[in-house]
Amino acid sequence: MAERPTRGVPPRRTRRVEVADRPRRAAWEVLKAVRVDGAYANLVLPAVIDHFGLDTRDAALTTELVSGTLRRRATYDAIIAACADRPLTKIEAKVLDALRLGAHQLLSMRVPDHAAISTTVDLVRSLGNRGAGGFANAVLRGVSEHDLVSWLARVAPDPVTDPTGHLVTVHSHPAWVVDQLRQAVGEAELPALLAADNERPAVTLVARPGRATRGELPGEPTRWSPYGVVLDGGSPAAVPAVVEGRAGVQDEGSQLVAHVLATAGIEGQDRCWLDLCAGPGGKAALLAALAAQRDAGVLALERAPHRARLVARSLAGSSGVLGVVTADGTTPPLRPASWDRVLVDAPCTGLGALRRRPEARWRRKPGDLLTLVLLQRSLLASALDLVRPGGVVLYATCSPVLAETAEVVTSVLQRHPGAALVDARALLAEVPDCDGPLPGTVQLWPHRHGTDAMFLALLRRAD
Ligand SMILES: C[S@@+](CC[C@H](N)C(=O)[O-])C[C@H]1O[C@@H](n2cnc3c(N)ncnc32)[C@H](O)[C@@H]1O
Repeated sequence: MAERPTRGVPPRRTRRVEVADRPRRAAWEVLKAVRVDGAYANLVLPAVIDHFGLDTRDAALTTELVSGTLRRRATYDAIIAACADRPLTKIEAKVLDALRLGAHQLLSMRVPDHAAISTTVDLVRSLGNRGAGGFANAVLRGVSEHDLVSWLARVAPDPVTDPTGHLVTVHSHPAWVVDQLRQAVGEAELPALLAADNERPAVTLVARPGRATRGELPGEPTRWSPYGVVLDGGSPAAVPAVVEGRAGVQDEGSQLVAHVLATAGIEGQDRCWLDLCAGPGGKAALLAALAAQRDAGVLALERAPHRARLVARSLAGSSGVLGVVTADGTTPPLRPASWDRVLVDAPCTGLGALRRRPEARWRRKPGDLLTLVLLQRSLLASALDLVRPGGVVLYATCSPVLAETAEVVTSVLQRHPGAALVDARALLAEVPDCDGPLPGTVQLWPHRHGTDAMFLALLRRAD
């Protein structure tokens, strides 16, 4: 995602930054940009870190403060509510953000209590609200009286009488998301999945075949993707192959999506591959590298112009590229029945990638689901029109929500009697416990596989 990279961030050097604790002030600025401007934390962070001139250590502190505070918001809000003399709705939003930052330091980081409290009180005062300093002090002193485990025992609803409410507070997910994930993974594994969503994921890199090798990337090979390594610390930006575009940052689950599309058996010619929802271009770049090795090529289509530009950037220097087209994949300007392999990496709720997008769980709304499902059905139907008889379509989502996975595939297949599911699971035979909700489909999970919760369904068009 690369939209609005600096929204809400004051331009650099327009004013001197004179605040006592710059990492915490920087973290608060990111929370404000997320809250007020709808910014994406991971995109705003680099600009804010740059603006505040933070060194590597302080930048890491700011990043942890932001990600942890956004992830555990519901947990911290329940605890703050128990310590405040007024409801949360009566606390000024900018003060509440500061209190959440303080709670994260007190309950989940090794910051001494006195430092967490005094820096938060200073922060609240520096926001131009001197009167709120005393209030913040009182609330955070209350928060510091117990550790996280004892607080959860006090504030989380009873798991028997209110199982969803319990999980909402303990694992900090909205209730509707808990319910959707329960339907997808089942009650027994739900707590483990929710807990995994609050873990910081390892950074995985992909070596684009023919352009880079795993051996030149710093890290251990990924367990199942033949192209990946788990970065052993440090920044991807310091890896020459990444800087040169021969490698990239990509979750192992996403690498497996490209792998399955490329390795599915088809009869006849195998030259024309299509990525129908390509932005920002991570999978298209891996597919292009794989296609180039067999004299095939990938056409990347994307509706949003700024994301199509990111696709073009991601594909720069690749062979195996037929072009980048900005168009609506539901009414594409392409000849039907003419593509050998088609990827529909559909726009989705992203509820399988919550580890990477700490604020996404709060931004998504239940009403988004229906709109997305209708679009997903249209895109998959369009892909089945575009693929040639005997060719394959891979439908993928980074969401395990059944409405976006099994239900989309089932409903589209009912209208396309010439298409049928084929076995994607067999192409990932070495990956354990990844059976999807329909026969032959695959569902990866953060708590089982350490990947995003990617869903894969492979379809073949017979006529
Ligand atoms: C899940 S993302 C794809 C990620 C991409 N495959 C990658 O690996 O980098 C879905 C993409 O579909 C695009 N999209 C949404 N509606 C579309 C449509 N009607 N036609 C084509 N692309 C669309 C979104 O803008 C978004 O870039």
